[in-house]
Amino acid sequence: MSDRTLLFEPTHRDGLARLGRLHTAHGIVQTPTLLPVVNPNERTIPPSELYERFGVRMLITNAYILSQKEALRDAALRRGIHALLDFPGAVMTDSGAFQVSRYAAVDPDPIAVVAFQRDIGVDLGTVLDVISPGEVPYERATADVEETLRRVRAATDPTLRADLPLAGTVQGSVYPELRERCAAELATTDCALHPIGGVVPLLEAYRYGDVLDAVLAAQGGLHPGRPVHLFGAGHPMMLALACLLGCDLFDSAAYARFAAADRLVFTDGTRLLRDLAELPAGAPAFVGVDLQGLQAMSVAQRTPLLARYNLWATMQELSSVRQAISEGTLWELAAARCRAHPALEAAFRRLDRWKDLTGRSARPSHDQALFLTGGRDPQPPQLHLHRTRLDERYRAPPSVAAIVVLPWESEPLSVRLRTWWGRLQQVAPTSVLLRTPLGLVPMELTTIYPFGQHVAPPDWAAGPLAAGSGRAPAALAQRMVADMPRIDVGSFSDGALETTCQSLRNRLGLAPQPRGGPSTALATRWDATLHWLVLRATLDQQFGRPQGTDAVVGATAADAPLQYVAGSTGRLRNVLAATGADCGAISRNPPPGACHLLSLRAADGRVTLKLAAATMLKASVPAPGLRVVAQPRVREVILQGRNVMAGHVLAIDSQLRPGDECLVVDPDDGLLAVGRLEMAAHEVGAVTRGMAVRVRDGAGQHGGH
Ligand code: GUN
Repeated sequence: MSDRTLLFEPTHRDGLARLGRLHTAHGIVQTPTLLPVVNPNERTIPPSELYERFGVRMLITNAYILSQKEALRDAALRRGIHALLDFPGAVMTDSGAFQVSRYAAVDPDPIAVVAFQRDIGVDLGTVLDVISPGEVPYERATADVEETLRRVRAATDPTLRADLPLAGTVQGSVYPELRERCAAELATTDCALHPIGGVVPLLEAYRYGDVLDAVLAAQGGLHPGRPVHLFGAGHPMMLALACLLGCDLFDSAAYARFAAADRLVFTDGTRLLRDLAELPAGAPAFVGVDLQGLQAMSVAQRTPLLARYNLWATMQELSSVRQAISEGTLWELAAARCRAHPALEAAFRRLDRWKDLTGRSARPSHDQALFLTGGRDPQPPQLHLHRTRLDERYRAPPSVAAIVVLPWESEPLSVRLRTWWGRLQQVAPTSVLLRTPLGLVPMELTTIYPFGQHVAPPDWAAGPLAAGSGRAPAALAQRMVADMPRIDVGSFSDGALETTCQSLRNRLGLAPQPRGGPSTALATRWDATLHWLVLRATLDQQFGRPQGTDAVVGATAADAPLQYVAGSTGRLRNVLAATGADCGAISRNPPPGACHLLSLRAADGRVTLKLAAATMLKASVPAPGLRVVAQPRVREVILQGRNVMAGHVLAIDSQLRPGDECLVVDPDDGLLAVGRLEMAAHEVGAVTRGMAVRVRDGAGQHGGH
């Protein structure tokens, strides 16, 4: 038999969700994916058709059912499972645990079950786990977990399983701490994949919140490099949510079971054929068939058509999920899908309880604006992350004397806002906050994701953020306690600017000032000051290392050793090192030969580092801050700009998140490259495949080393 290793290679992440490639002895399987359940006794859709017409690359069948009929068992042992099913892709088998839980007479031997799966040549077998029947007392659930773990340890003994990759199932009933403990134990065993089991009774009772708790509790203990399967789930209504929780594989007989009951699945639920007003448009199974014709068919004729439709609809939804993961919009898709049923919506709200876990893998930035709908939904993890960072990392501009709160303008740093800002500075050093749907945000942070890249209905903040929406970031709030004047501006009506300036003067006890626009020289200085503020606040928010920020931008705008390159909208795009007279200069194009420090991305306002700025950050931020330490043997290729693979990482700053800028260093802390982290820090040490850092500049490129 060929070598049956099973390797999982995550290729893209969106929170806990991931796109991945499962390398099997029978080809590569793109995840998340659904393994259609094939009952060896009734093949509703022939496996060869699943492969050729539906593009199914992995299916699941049941080893227990196969072993029960002598003829089938002998054929499977003699010909191998792939020939028996006539399926060239990967085959997983379940162990019969589900049948044990449903039918008292079923009592397979756990060792024999593994041996049989080994001998029929499956690509992935399942250890016979013990499913707690529904909600059992804690003691009973603990005993079931212990027995499951005992069987997994016995099954993973190489003398039994040989080269068979095994799935070790997480049980634990409705007890999250038991689920986590079971998962953590399983992480120490030699399994290739971990299903979450025992959720079918919960799904049948619409207890999606308990399913969510079971999956996330397990995620707290599982090995981050192994794929996660959700046993018995496959309705398109809940796939987006399940993927958001980090499930990579599903198996379901629902497509065939529902078809046999004349039911069609949709992303918003299930409908009976007789209740349809029309057939779903574009479904390949219904080409050449009309509704009346389908309803008039015999059961034997229409069940296969309905099964094909159900499978197609389920696979379509997984395709939408994969697209959303690649765009970083799965949260929004799951939120929308969960509105289909109150029980799903209630489950979605439970995500708020799992902020710490989901936050670990949250990407701080996405290329698409954050769409906020559903005022009572929990905050997406990236929003929670940025609001926390705003409180913890924001530094008020130096020597601020007052705060002015302005209405939200969704164009960051619009001409109007810049005019207001400049005029207010003429009166006194003022911090300008904007009343955004996400709460009060300093104007200099409205260029970065998600503060400047979100779309929300105007009353969105009336939802979960209401309590915080009038609150200034902690760093400013602290100073406001010391009686710093705060003026709230209701609208940008005619004359509001001058009235506000006047109130500010009165509040600060300043003498009246003659009216009149700023001189050109002043306006240029303000623009440079604003660029400096944006840069400083962005670096602080992104890296959280004030000493590093100061090393790059200097202590004040006036003596910043920087030149600014602004885009056509006036927004800062590139920052160069300045020499003497160039300090604070603003241009549209980088002067030739200047030393490029960093860029600000148009899509999300975040900084991408060049080697010069990376060197400054490294000198001022002590190790392990911002670092990914690479093995000495890949030193030379990384210096030349090659990406860093997960297996080549020796250590990593545990604060880094996927999408963060990072410094790649050797074990002696010599800078090798600068790039972007592609995985969560806790994942990097655990996985052996996949890219850890996408390198932008190697220190040895362009003769720089
Ligand atoms: N199918 C549905 N649920 C389960 C489960 O918990 N364990 C196994 N082995 N198969 C299942």
